[in-house]
Formats: sequence, structure tokens, C-alpha cells
Amino acid sequence: MADDASGALARAGELLANAKRAVAFTGAGISQKSGIQTYRGKGGLWNTTSPNTSSIDFFINDPGAYWEVAKGRGATLLAARPNPAHEALVELERAGKLKAVITQNVDGLHLLAGSSEVIELHGNGREVVCLDCGNREPRSHVQARLEEELPPRCLRCGGVPMKPAAVFFGEAMPEEATGRAFELAEECDLMLVVGSSLVVYPAAQVPLIAHEAGAPLVILNAEPTPFDDLATVILRGQAGEFLPELVRLSQAAREPDNS
Ligand code: APR
Ligand code: ZN
Repeated sequence: MADDASGALARAGELLANAKRAVAFTGAGISQKSGIQTYRGKGGLWNTTSPNTSSIDFFINDPGAYWEVAKGRGATLLAARPNPAHEALVELERAGKLKAVITQNVDGLHLLAGSSEVIELHGNGREVVCLDCGNREPRSHVQARLEEELPPRCLRCGGVPMKPAAVFFGEAMPEEATGRAFELAEECDLMLVVGSSLVVYPAAQVPLIAHEAGAPLVILNAEPTPFDDLATVILRGQAGEFLPELVRLSQAAREPDNS
């Protein structure tokens, strides 16, 4: 790890050591080590596939074409397991520093890792929903019948094809989750951003609200973000390496002989 990274990690570790209600705001980058492709940045999905394929209009016009694209991604998502970055956030919660995780991810990995308050601003792709009758089914069931039926129909009403319970472009974020996320951002004493390009709104308002309310902003991301100028500390690197180290440093910083 380079010297400048060590210095930034030490500063972030001190901030975290003193936090009692930090909030993490996560994006696709935190799950990259779990085998899930990010959307933007190096190796991102939108470098080779149009983001339009994740819009609600595209889905409604041609659900079969949507599921053709989503078939492979769904299998990857269902097989993915939490990585050390998700686990580090669970440790921070157990240490009484982190209050909640607000995520843009639809992979459900924070919940699988064991974080207790997880706000999923963009829904959860491990479930599918019928846009007609609201019937929900595990994605794994639908995934299993894609070979015979594409697009997959609702088993209850037989109507329109099932859609992942994720928020598509052109759809609103869930109201209750959004309200809770904004409230947590107002009240946190540290905002820790991990693995997000911070370009998608309204989700990106979450770190902005925290910053405007006076909380220090720590941004851990592989590449620059538009909020870097607002950050108290920038950690440029891999979430799976930096977060466990940050947890360790935040614990060490609490011991009297290290303070
Ligand atoms: N560790 C840290 N950061 C990483 C890592 C990693 N291992 N791998 C990639 N990154 C960074 C990339 O440099 C990029 O800036 O994570 C960021 C991921 O950005 P996006 O792919 O844009 O993900 P996100 O911010 O979550 O996207 C927001 O856009 O289309 C959507 O709805 C989708 O929720 C998603 C939203
Ligand atoms: Zn239905």
C-alpha cells in the first residue's frame, strides 16, 4: 500500500474511531470482489451494453429482450456471496460505530453478510414482481424456468412478464426507503461512501445531505467521483482491501497508547 494511502487510511480510521452513528452509502464497487460487474468505470457494464436495457420503457416494450440480457446477470447475482468489504461493515456495526447501510445495490449482499439496518434504495434483484398483480417470487424460481419460458409470466395472474424487484431507469425509488435514507443522512456523524460513481440521482443526494448537515465525508472508491472536493478523506483503492484495514485502524485508534 502506498504511503499516501496509509496516511489517508489512518485519518479515516481516526474519524471512524470517534463515530457513533456513521452511515455507509454503497454502490456497485463494493460487490465487485464478489464477482458482480459494476456499471461505470473500468470493466463497467455500460461500457459494452446500453443503460437503456435497464429502463422501464425498454422492459415494457420488449421484456423478452430484457430477459435475454438479464439471464446471465441474474445467474451471477444469485451465486454471489458477500466479500470482506461487506463483512467489514458488519464489524463496524457490531463495534457500535456504524448505524446503517444505505445501498444502491440490488444484490442483497449486505443483508446476506449480516448488516441489520440495510436501506435498499434501488430494490432487490433477488426477487421478481408482477407489474399487474404485485405477486412476488424469488428470482431463483424464475431463473430456473427461463430456458422454457422467456419472458417469464406471472404464475398467479398469468399476465405481463415478471420484472426484477429492482428500480429501473424511469422508475421512482421506494418512498419509505428514500425517506429513511435521507433521515439517516441528516443524523449521521460520519458518511462513508464505498464503491459508487456518485452520478445517479436521487440516490447521490444521500452523501450530499450528510455533508450539508456537517458530517465528515469519507469516500472509498477505485476512481474519482464528482464529490471528491467535498470529502474530508479520499481513499483511492479496492473496497475489499481498504475496508477491513479501516476497521482494524479504527479499533487501534481507540486504544489509549495509540491515541
Ligand atoms: N473497490 C472500490 N471501488 C470500486 C471497485 C472496488 N473493488 N471496483 C469498482 N469501483 C468503483 C468504480 O471506479 C466506480 O466509480 O466503483 C464505482 C462503481 O460505480 P457504478 O458502476 O456507477 O455503481 P453505482 O454508483 O452503484 O451506480 C449507481 O447506477 O445504473 C445504476 O441503478 C444502478 O444502482 C446503480 C446506479
Ligand atoms: Zn401477476
